[in-house]
Amino acid sequence: MTVPDSAQAGLNADTGMGTDAAARAGHIRSFVRRQGRVSNAQQRYHQEMMAKIGVPYAAARLDFDALFGRVAPRILEIGFGMGETSAVIAALHPENDYLGIEVHTPGVGSLCKLVAEKCLHNQRIIQHDAVEVLRDMLMPGSLAGAHIFFPDPWPKMRHHKRRLLQAPFVALLTSRLQPGGYLHCATDWEDYAQQMLAVLSAETLLENTVSGYAPRPEQRPQTKFEQRGRRLGHGVWDLVFRRRLDSLQAEDDRQNELA
Ligand SMILES: C[S@@+](CC[C@H](N)C(=O)[O-])C[C@H]1O[C@@H](n2cnc3c(N)ncnc32)[C@H](O)[C@@H]1O
Repeated sequence: MTVPDSAQAGLNADTGMGTDAAARAGHIRSFVRRQGRVSNAQQRYHQEMMAKIGVPYAAARLDFDALFGRVAPRILEIGFGMGETSAVIAALHPENDYLGIEVHTPGVGSLCKLVAEKCLHNQRIIQHDAVEVLRDMLMPGSLAGAHIFFPDPWPKMRHHKRRLLQAPFVALLTSRLQPGGYLHCATDWEDYAQQMLAVLSAETLLENTVSGYAPRPEQRPQTKFEQRGRRLGHGVWDLVFRRRLDSLQAEDDRQNELA
């Protein structure tokens, strides 16, 4: 497969952490570092493929055009798990570029294997905390879309503070979307779906593409977590919001207020 020699090609050392309000967003620790068994195949593909499609975390803005070697719409996926959905979507849409973020080594190895087997040219991976990647590496207004499918539900009340979809995180993510860029979330936990709907609706730079929850979009294949949720009798809720087209001025005003 043809990818730039090293995904390091996309790292732009001259731009460091932004001074924008989003960069000051509170840090949610939304994951636990599980050891999990890494199969021999996952380990092999992780080692082989991350040298080609992996991007090391750095407090430096990513140059997407250099990273992917072309200009195309860029879609971010946060917490891709084993990457089954990521690989299906990237294969279905060769016209887009996909950046997946995941902390779990077996999952990263699994997506590496799928990318190699399907000869995908449009998938890159960062194995790091998505909050830090968004804050430090992604340029404001650089994403055509973002996917967060079945984020960890943290069902116990005392753990709700670890849920990813909270106002400061949503403000940070929204700032990285281009005007018109979409945010697609899905969950099989009803109270998390309600929280997502409330938080996304309260973000003034976003608008809902429908009233309430979205019909299950065709392009989202079923993941392991979704199948498990369905087996347990859970419903599934999709939410598809879009960054307002007129939101650039509103964001400037927000930055000025907070400066
Ligand atoms: C419940 S799983 C869902 C995986 C996949 N989206 C699916 O539907 O099968 C959530 C995943 O998000 C990852 N995750 C949680 N917080 C993260 C963060 N801050 N940065 C990167 N990955 C994160 C976890 O490691 C886990 O693999």
